[in-house]
Amino acid sequence: MSDPVVSEAAASEAAGFVELAERIAREAGEMLLAKRPARPEVLATKSSPTDVVTALDKASEELIRTRIRQARPDDAILGEEGGSTGDGRVRWIVDPIDGTVNFLYGLPEWSVSIAVEVDGQVVAGVVNVVPRGEVFTAARGGGAWLAGERLRCNTGVPLEQALIATGFGYGPGRRAVQAEVLAQVVPRVRDIRRGGSAASDLCSVAAGRVDGYYERGPQDWDYAAGGLIAAEAGARFGGLHGKPANPGLTLCAAPGLFEELHALLAPLNPERDS
Ligand code: IPD
Ligand code: CA
Repeated sequence: MSDPVVSEAAASEAAGFVELAERIAREAGEMLLAKRPARPEVLATKSSPTDVVTALDKASEELIRTRIRQARPDDAILGEEGGSTGDGRVRWIVDPIDGTVNFLYGLPEWSVSIAVEVDGQVVAGVVNVVPRGEVFTAARGGGAWLAGERLRCNTGVPLEQALIATGFGYGPGRRAVQAEVLAQVVPRVRDIRRGGSAASDLCSVAAGRVDGYYERGPQDWDYAAGGLIAAEAGARFGGLHGKPANPGLTLCAAPGLFEELHALLAPLNPERDS
């Protein structure tokens, strides 16, 4: 949510981070579009045989890291492919391609996600949903934006009318529980969407294209930028039982729907794997 207590200095620092992150996310998106072959090749698998990485995930992260280092050599960086480097009060959180499976198959729902954290708080977020040419941005306290329009999430939607986005992990044990939980959610909501990019799902909450989102498993790089964008569009973004968003469970929806979704999910013990 827009936070009026953000000082002028902090707001201007955050705006500077958004500007730089946007420039870098656009450049990475252009590179990915230009270099994406008709059938990208799987370079390696990670947590399971279906959790893939392509050469372009690596190239995108390398490009992003290079640009951050050129502009801000002292900042720390956490990237999905390259892990953590550096140390300091400013940390960049990067997903070079969120929705790699969509990227592999040529589905138009993958994104470049870049967030900037200062003293542990995300202050800037940019999600470039490249195939759609949509770049979502937010600075803490400055609202969420898409193509010059301020975004507002949907409000006043009861659970049974809500369109809810979710996603699934890559391990069978996690998926078995996710399917079990989903079976309890589907009869209680309007419908479910599985877009394939958590960063983009959160931007969809911000833009009112879905009413809410929940997922077990996404990591910082999946949700740091999108979470700020959704929050700045008026949504609540967090975990279960008052925790901040975390890989155990990440939830996002307007106040009211957030609590209804929470009340539905919490008793299902969705933070486990089988
Ligand atoms: C994945 C996507 C997907 C979500 C998974 C993520 P990746 O990221 O965000 O929508 O369901 O939890 O791991 O692997 O494509 O970068
Ligand atoms: Ca990701």
